[in-house]
Amino acid sequence: MNENEETRGMYHTITYGCQMNEHDSEKLAGVLEEDGYTPTEDIEKADVIIINTCCVRENAELKVFGKVGSLKQYKRQNPELIIGICGCMMQQEEIVQEIKEKYSHVDIVFGTHNIHRFPELLAEARQFQNPLIEVWEQEKGLIPELPAKRESDYQAWTTIVYGCDNFCSYCIVPYVRGRERSRPVENILKEVRELSSEGIKEITLLGQNVNSYGKDLSENIDFADLLQELNKVDGIERIRYMTSHPRDFNQKLIETIADTEKVCEHIHLPMQSGSSKILKEMKRGYNQEEYLELVKEIREAMPEVAISTDFIVGFPGESEADFQETLKVVKEVKFDMAYTFLYSQRSGTPAAKLEEQIPKHIKKERLERLMDLQSQISQEQNEKLVGKTLEVLVEGESKKDSSKLTGRSRSNKIVIFSGDSNLTGELINVNINKAQSWTLFGSLIE
Ligand code: SAH
Ligand code: SF4
Ligand code: F3S
Repeated sequence: MNENEETRGMYHTITYGCQMNEHDSEKLAGVLEEDGYTPTEDIEKADVIIINTCCVRENAELKVFGKVGSLKQYKRQNPELIIGICGCMMQQEEIVQEIKEKYSHVDIVFGTHNIHRFPELLAEARQFQNPLIEVWEQEKGLIPELPAKRESDYQAWTTIVYGCDNFCSYCIVPYVRGRERSRPVENILKEVRELSSEGIKEITLLGQNVNSYGKDLSENIDFADLLQELNKVDGIERIRYMTSHPRDFNQKLIETIADTEKVCEHIHLPMQSGSSKILKEMKRGYNQEEYLELVKEIREAMPEVAISTDFIVGFPGESEADFQETLKVVKEVKFDMAYTFLYSQRSGTPAAKLEEQIPKHIKKERLERLMDLQSQISQEQNEKLVGKTLEVLVEGESKKDSSKLTGRSRSNKIVIFSGDSNLTGELINVNINKAQSWTLFGSLIE
């Protein structure tokens, strides 16, 4: 911290969206703390409020507008308050325009490509009254590395690929996060070694499609090689990654995940739809048979692996028969977990222009059927674990019951058990004695 520590005041961040955004908020917090600000949970005490936004679905955007509107009262109470909005939503011109016109209490607007400009923007905002809007299309030159203020002492996120080049027809991410850019391997290794020396035990590698890591680098390195390099870092006990695209999942990667000790037995493998017709329209680059074959190969190599997925229901043109294909696959694969979303029209994406948009009530009704089915299957999958012993990384007191601890197994299951809260951050063994759809319960093995 600098000499201004006493005078700078407090900050509060609000984050919407995926882990990528959560991690960006950690970087913003890092910048603010270097600048002498301290964090506060209490928004009313804040001198700087930052909202990091998401636009992947319409309801994410609606939440942001609601939140920004509600900040007006704080600005009235404290005219010195600085309000900043950043993140994916700000990469869309019409949204920035709307903020300018309707939310004059906002002081700073910036995008996903210039978060390193935040310190300068903040300094200017402290001096001048006029709103500052600076959104870049993509970084100029190398992506600056910012210090992150980590939320946890034992788990950390590390970005390995920025942006996305897949352009799935429904998705806005490639437009707001820019082209795919792999982070140099030495930067990743340096960061992970530092994290390990600070006591971090579990790292999660972030990218919209981690499997394409390295394609744009001059070195001859791919995602499987990166996993092997990271596996050698002493002190790191678990390696996770998000998200792997089914299209780029090759045999070498399956073998590497199976054979590399620290890489966890959990694969998030978004399928999006069970219908080959819809998958083609979505431009996912695989069909139902190919996806099922991939799952088979993964399970042959790793019988204990947990597989989770994402589904979108109500993509334009999805018929009842197409939806039935999704239900069929869900029954057949038996995912451990599925995140399910109503298709949301995102302006600028090809799918938004398709004629046969599905009415909301049909989308909702399909979503409910899918969720009911998956919840039964998750329950069945979890029941298979009763009687087994799982290694758990303890995350602290359970939110629902503070007399209990919560943590996650290597297969990413939430495990609740009794124990002393000083076990937080430790790897321990738990014997599972009860299962619900989203949670396992057990007792600590001393
Ligand atoms: N890169 C990841 C997904 C990131 S977005 C991947 O390809 O797997 C996270 C999830 O949001 C997606 O998997 C998809 O299920 C969902 N999603 C993306 N765009 C959407 C849209 N327009 N409507 C509904 N859900 C969407
Ligand atoms: Fe979106 Fe597809 Fe890229 Fe995932 S892979 S972020 S769904 S375009
Ligand atoms: Fe949302 Fe941006 Fe992530 S749109 S899902 S926060 S990459």
